[in-house]
Amino acid sequence: MTLLPTTVTARPEVPEARGELSRMVRSRLLEGGRLPLAADIARSSPYGEDLQLALHLCYELHYQGFAGVPDTLEWDPGLLRVRALMEHRFESALRHDCRERAGVDEALAALLVEPVDGTGVSHFLASSGEPWHLREYVALRSVHQLREADPHLWVIPRLRGRAKAAMVAVEYDEYGCGRPERMHSRLYAELMADLGLDPSYGRHVDVAGAELLAASNLMTMFGLHRRLRGALVGHFAVVETTSSPAAARIAAALHRTGAGPAAERYYEEHVEADAVHEQVVRHEVVGGLLEDEPDLADDVAFGIAATSLLEDRLGGRVVDAWSRGESALRAPLPRPSGNGA
Ligand SMILES: [Fe+2]
Ligand SMILES: [Fe+2]
Repeated sequence: MTLLPTTVTARPEVPEARGELSRMVRSRLLEGGRLPLAADIARSSPYGEDLQLALHLCYELHYQGFAGVPDTLEWDPGLLRVRALMEHRFESALRHDCRERAGVDEALAALLVEPVDGTGVSHFLASSGEPWHLREYVALRSVHQLREADPHLWVIPRLRGRAKAAMVAVEYDEYGCGRPERMHSRLYAELMADLGLDPSYGRHVDVAGAELLAASNLMTMFGLHRRLRGALVGHFAVVETTSSPAAARIAAALHRTGAGPAAERYYEEHVEADAVHEQVVRHEVVGGLLEDEPDLADDVAFGIAATSLLEDRLGGRVVDAWSRGESALRAPLPRPSGNGA
């Protein structure tokens, strides 16, 4: 097993700006500059690099924060106002794009059907993934996998009864059942180290495009808002339902390309754990929530649809780039270090 450097727990640097909104939010964090106006946000693309990075900057204040940024900015009224305007833009676009959605039962059943001729990222990796594809994919996903389970934890005080008890049971597994060395975020860091990637928290945000940031921001937006608790549960259901078969394909790709044991361990853990989690989430978390609050059914369906939309868009962008023989990242990764592939 590769020993992790101590920098894994250090606060990340503030990522580079990608436009006017993110430049202004970034400068507010670092030196107290002027924030964007409502008109600036209204003009921005809801799924674009600039707004998604600016939203990521605001959201990170609720997780680990950034090096050199005061903790007090987490509740800065100006930043919260700007965050709310950007969230409104993002959520409105998602509600429009997901307006024709299936009901909860139909949407969950569809997630369980594996396409015969799968074209997603895990299918690409299983059939023709090379070490550089795996490194790119793992670096991209590290933006949120190094805080795996954290955004979903925020929903727990907003649940009751069966849904709450089941959500805690699944999250307990995600956090390693009381053993820090079994925490899924920790297993992910070890996977990164085995692939010769820097496993420091937040290290790869700069290379991740808007599609990844949007998928990552979605779970934070759902997690932070009590009114979106149904959508958060829908997001959780998608993650836990689709994880197990995809994890099996990625574990096989890592094995085939000769990655180390820690690299395979993360995905092997998810093949087994998520087969169980999927059942608990469907029957107890979703079932329990809708028994308690039946009016949330459409919000759960929205969460499923929005998650699937952004995940499909991300997968499409990655596979398109790889199919052309190009990188799916915004900038090249450093050369592998240590015993990486
Ligand atoms: Fe997990
Ligand atoms: Fe899980």
